[in-house]
Amino acid sequence: MSRHVVVTGASSGIGAACARAFARLGDRLSLGARRADRLPSVVAEAHHHELDVTDPVSVAGFLDAAVARHGPIDVLVNNAGLARGTEKIAEGTGEAWREMVETNVLGLLEVTRRVLPQMIERRGGHVVVIGSIAGHKSYAGGGVYCGSKRALQSICEAMRIETLGTGVRVTSVDPGMVETEFSLVRFRGDAARAAKVYQGTRPLTADDVADCVVFAATRPAHVDIETIVVMPTDQASPHHVHRAGS
Ligand SMILES: NC(=O)c1ccc[n+]([C@@H]2O[C@H](COP(=O)([O-])OP(=O)(O)OC[C@H]3O[C@@H](n4cnc5c(N)ncnc54)[C@H](OP(=O)(O)O)[C@@H]3O)[C@@H](O)[C@H]2O)c1
Repeated sequence: MSRHVVVTGASSGIGAACARAFARLGDRLSLGARRADRLPSVVAEAHHHELDVTDPVSVAGFLDAAVARHGPIDVLVNNAGLARGTEKIAEGTGEAWREMVETNVLGLLEVTRRVLPQMIERRGGHVVVIGSIAGHKSYAGGGVYCGSKRALQSICEAMRIETLGTGVRVTSVDPGMVETEFSLVRFRGDAARAAKVYQGTRPLTADDVADCVVFAATRPAHVDIETIVVMPTDQASPHHVHRAGS
């Protein structure tokens, strides 16, 4: 039976790939992002709505419209997120840190807290979180991004305990390097610098990550895939990357 799948940050990269993958399964989709004009080209027949996860009014408007269109939410893919800059802690000004924490942690919580109660009441549902290898291993210049992703592990762990016995599942999909607009955003539009991240190596594609999300979301209801850590074969940690000629 078709499910109602909500994807945050569906205008690009992993979110867009997840939307397309669930659409191929015949699920009913609600897609949100700030650049809502991009959403119809991701999955034309989905419900499209502007969403800024850092704005509680926007989150409420997005979710209300989603439920009005497609009914109760079966799968929530918390994908919206970003890294901004590479400032070390001693060099930071706080602006980029706030943006990352407000988006990756508080934004995700705002969306999730509005969806979980109806999942608990219906005794079923699946919360998927796109974490990162950065939540498992920190690196210089990424302290706050890594911290924001590590926080998601604790939040997922707590949600599993809090929803125990309700049939709700919580999965974290934690990828290594994926070629998306992620680096372009991190380097504030510097395309040459972003391209260097992927030079001479073979990163994951957004579709590779979507495969993992769909795998977790299509297990039988009694199976909860807690965490999937998925890396490119050419990457062993945030800073151990095999590049041609190296
Ligand atoms: N690429 C990687 O190497 C990698 C590795 C591990 C984990 N991740 C995680 O994967 C997730 C998706 O990133 P990506 O690689 O697909 O990057 P991306 O191509 O830049 O996509 C990020 C998505 O998040 C959305 N977003 C950002 N801020 C938002 C906000 N305030 N409200 C709503 N949507 C927002 C963006 O949409 P709008 O700008 O249109 O709002 C966009 O659709 C992120 O959580 C990221 O941390 C990425």
